[in-house]
Amino acid sequence: MTQAVAEHYQAFKQRGLKLDMSRGKPAPEQLDLSDALMGPLASYAADDGTDCRNYGLGVGLPEARALFGALLGVPPAQVVVDSSASLSLMHDVIVYALLNGVPGGTPWVTQQPVSFLCPVPGYDRHFSICEARGIKMISVPLGEDGPDMDLVERLVAADASIKGMWCVPKYSNPSGAVYADAVIARLAQMPTAAPDFRLMWDDAYRFHHLGDNKTEIADVLAACAAAGNPDRAIVFASTSKVSWAGSGIAALAASPANIAWWTKHAGVRSIGPDKINQLRHVRYLKDPATVAALMEGHRSLLAPKFDAVQQQFAELLGDVPGVSWTRPAGGYFIDLVTPPGAAKRTIALAKEAGITLTPAGAAYPYGVDPEDSHIRIAPSYPSLSEIALAAQGIALSLKLALAT
Ligand SMILES: Cc1ncc(COP(=O)(O)O)c(C=O)c1O
Repeated sequence: MTQAVAEHYQAFKQRGLKLDMSRGKPAPEQLDLSDALMGPLASYAADDGTDCRNYGLGVGLPEARALFGALLGVPPAQVVVDSSASLSLMHDVIVYALLNGVPGGTPWVTQQPVSFLCPVPGYDRHFSICEARGIKMISVPLGEDGPDMDLVERLVAADASIKGMWCVPKYSNPSGAVYADAVIARLAQMPTAAPDFRLMWDDAYRFHHLGDNKTEIADVLAACAAAGNPDRAIVFASTSKVSWAGSGIAALAASPANIAWWTKHAGVRSIGPDKINQLRHVRYLKDPATVAALMEGHRSLLAPKFDAVQQQFAELLGDVPGVSWTRPAGGYFIDLVTPPGAAKRTIALAKEAGITLTPAGAAYPYGVDPEDSHIRIAPSYPSLSEIALAAQGIALSLKLALAT
C-alpha cells in the first residue's frame, strides 16, 4: 500500500508541474471580464460636478458611495469609498484606534494590552495586521455557521483588553463558513467589558456565490443599531474580486459617528482617493443588478474549478480516515483538514511535486496551527485542466504524508 502510494506520487512528480496556489487570486479570464473598465471616460465630472482629476472628496464620489450603499444595504452617508484595498482600510482603522481611540474612547495604546478575538481557521493577513501592530490574538473556533458564541460571549464579557474581533461573515477564508443570523444577533447584542469594542466585519465575499443558492446574511449594522450598540461594527468590502484585484475600489460602512471619526483621521493621511478609478467603476458596475450579472461571469469560471477539486478529493481522499474538506457555497477557498500533524509535511511534498500552497499554519494567529491539520486550497488562479491535476497532486502528497 505504502509502496503503491509512493510510486503514484513519484509518477506525478515526473510531470514537472509548476503551479502557485498560495493565494486566492482571480484568474486572467476573470480579469478579462472587466476590460471595459479601460474604455475612455465620456467625461471626468462626477454627478455633483466634481472634476475627478483633481484633489478632494475624501469620503469618495457621491455616486460611488451610492453604489456601495446599494450593494451593502446602507445609506450612502454611512459609506466611505476609498482607493483599491479594503485591507488598507482595516489596517488604518486599527492604527487610528490605537493612536487616537475610537469615538468616545481613549487610545488603545494607552490601555495595554490590546487583544483581538480571531476565529480560526481565519485569514492570515488579518493576523499579520495584529502581529505587526502589537495586538495580542486569542483564537476562537469557527464552525460552519460562525464562531463558538458561548466562548466569544464569555471572553468579551470578562476581559476589557479585548477591543475587537475579526469576522469574515460570508464564505469565510479559508473554510467558507457563513455566519447564521442568530450568531450575528448575538455578536451585536453581547455585553463587552470593553466599551470601545469593535467588530472588524470583513465582507470580502459578499457577492461571490459559487452555487445556485445565493446566501444572504443578516445586516450587522442594523443588528448592532437595534441592540443599542450602533458603533460596534465596521464593515469592509471591495471590488478586488469583482473587477480587478489591486485596481478596484474599496469601501467602509459604519455608523454616522464612526464615519465622522474615520473621515477626520483619514483626512490627515490623504487629500482624497483616486476618484478617476471610482468614476470608471461606477460607470461600469452601475448598480447591484449589473454587479450580480458580472458575478455570474466569475461564477461560471470559478465553479468548475471548485467542482474539479471536490471530485479529485472525493475520488482520492474520500475513504482516508481523519481527512475532510469543506464544500463552500461561495468565496475563494476550500479548507482541507488532515489528521493532526500532517499538514506541514503534505505541503512540503506538494511543493516537491511543483505545487506551491499557502504555508501550513497561515490560517492561525502567529502562523501556528496547534494541530498542524489545515491546508488552504485556492482553486481560482490555475486553469481548469491544471486545477484537476493540482488537486490530484495535493491528494497524493497527503496520502504519502500519512503513509510514511
Ligand atoms: C477575507 C479577505 N479579506 C480581504 C481580502 C483582501 O481584500 P482587498 O483586496 O480589498 O484588500 C482578502 C483577499 O484574499 C480576503 O480573503
